[in-house]
Amino acid sequence: MNKPLSSSDLSAYWMPYTANRNFKASPRMLVSAEGMYYRDDAGNAILDGTAGLWCVPLGHAQPKIVSAVQKAVATLDYAPSFQLGHPMAFELAERLKQYTGNRFSQVFYTGSGSEAVDTALKIALAYHRTRGDATRTRLIGRERGYHGVGFGGMSVGGIGTNRKTFNSALLQGVDHLPHTHNLEKNAFTKGEPEYGTHLADELERLVTLHDASNIAAVIVEPVAGSTGVLIPPKGYLKRLRELCTKHGILLIFDEVITGFGRLGTPFASDYFDVEPDLFTTAKGLTNGVVPMGAVFVKPHIHDAFMQGPDGIELLHGYTYSGHPLACAAGLASLDIFEQDGILEHANGVADYFQEAAHSLRGLPNVIDIRTIGMIAGIELSSIPGKPGARAYDAFRRAFNDGILIRVTGDIIALSPPLIIEKKHIDELFGKLAAILKTLD
Ligand SMILES: Cc1ncc(COP(=O)(O)O)c(C=O)c1O
Repeated sequence: MNKPLSSSDLSAYWMPYTANRNFKASPRMLVSAEGMYYRDDAGNAILDGTAGLWCVPLGHAQPKIVSAVQKAVATLDYAPSFQLGHPMAFELAERLKQYTGNRFSQVFYTGSGSEAVDTALKIALAYHRTRGDATRTRLIGRERGYHGVGFGGMSVGGIGTNRKTFNSALLQGVDHLPHTHNLEKNAFTKGEPEYGTHLADELERLVTLHDASNIAAVIVEPVAGSTGVLIPPKGYLKRLRELCTKHGILLIFDEVITGFGRLGTPFASDYFDVEPDLFTTAKGLTNGVVPMGAVFVKPHIHDAFMQGPDGIELLHGYTYSGHPLACAAGLASLDIFEQDGILEHANGVADYFQEAAHSLRGLPNVIDIRTIGMIAGIELSSIPGKPGARAYDAFRRAFNDGILIRVTGDIIALSPPLIIEKKHIDELFGKLAAILKTLD
């Protein structure tokens, strides 16, 4: 057991996306993790119902990843990626390309999901310009979308509370499609809801307004996670693809949470059978062990950059692009995905997981449950005048009772490691049901 930190020990760390004063008055401190469980500083086991922040699909302290990273740090701790390379970066890109079934041809490394989003947006703008379509600069996101915290991602993102403070500095020339969440029509749906496919046609309205010749790209999360598990209506993504193709607009999928098995397929584009022109990943790419993101592109995107005069084709990159430790973690993660039958296992338990989530229907304040793959969203009614308070209370109680859940507004989002077994699912939902019965 670790010695508890005093409140003065906690003051220097300005915590991200955290109610700092509240946390520091009553800290929740994780000190180790293995398999499906974290352990806190009092020695309690906490079942990980969220794969960290959606980023640990293979469970914690995977021995193959631990030893690959240990070996990498002792061999090549860092290598610049501008005008220099190291073998693992090329090997991982090739393996990732193969993991898409060779549908995508190149991979651009970043350090996070936010950087992957901004990189994808920059590639989209540069792609049109390099082809002589320089007026195609407008970007289209979606209401309730989350694309990280960079200025690009925040601008195409559609969460009002995140945007409000930075309003004056958001990118110009950005529009948003409507979100597809509709409780009246779609509450308590398993898988893709029936209602809302027509909302993709809102893109036609934006094309009429601005003209396609001014629009560069549409970016959406195939399943929106951070805003509370919004599952696309049947046929919605296919319709978006058709409209983007019709108007020469690039379609970007933000697969930062859906990538690497969350829906039981390598990527959401496999699950929905819809091909974007580019897509972003991060999180599960390295099992969360070393920060890394990546943008995958189709051959026509990359080819467009390789036509001009010799020289740097894309003036963009990060000090930590292709970091050796991240590459080692990424390669070991892919080995585990491929050799340990992770997707097969996830598909084997997904129905049990989804049924367990839907069994919470009828408990106090539960107004919707929606599930797809290994994701469940449980929406609670809000306490009048206190949006988010009820779910936050559930989060605090859950931690004390030994389960980690994630809340956004009054929505509980569950996305456990894909190695989860039925006994863990029983523990997670058994404890959650007990908590929901006692909330105000
Ligand atoms: C869809 C999506 N895009 C981008 C991001 C940002 O990723 P990061 O926090 O690694 O910058 C997230 C993070 O949750 C996300 O869910």
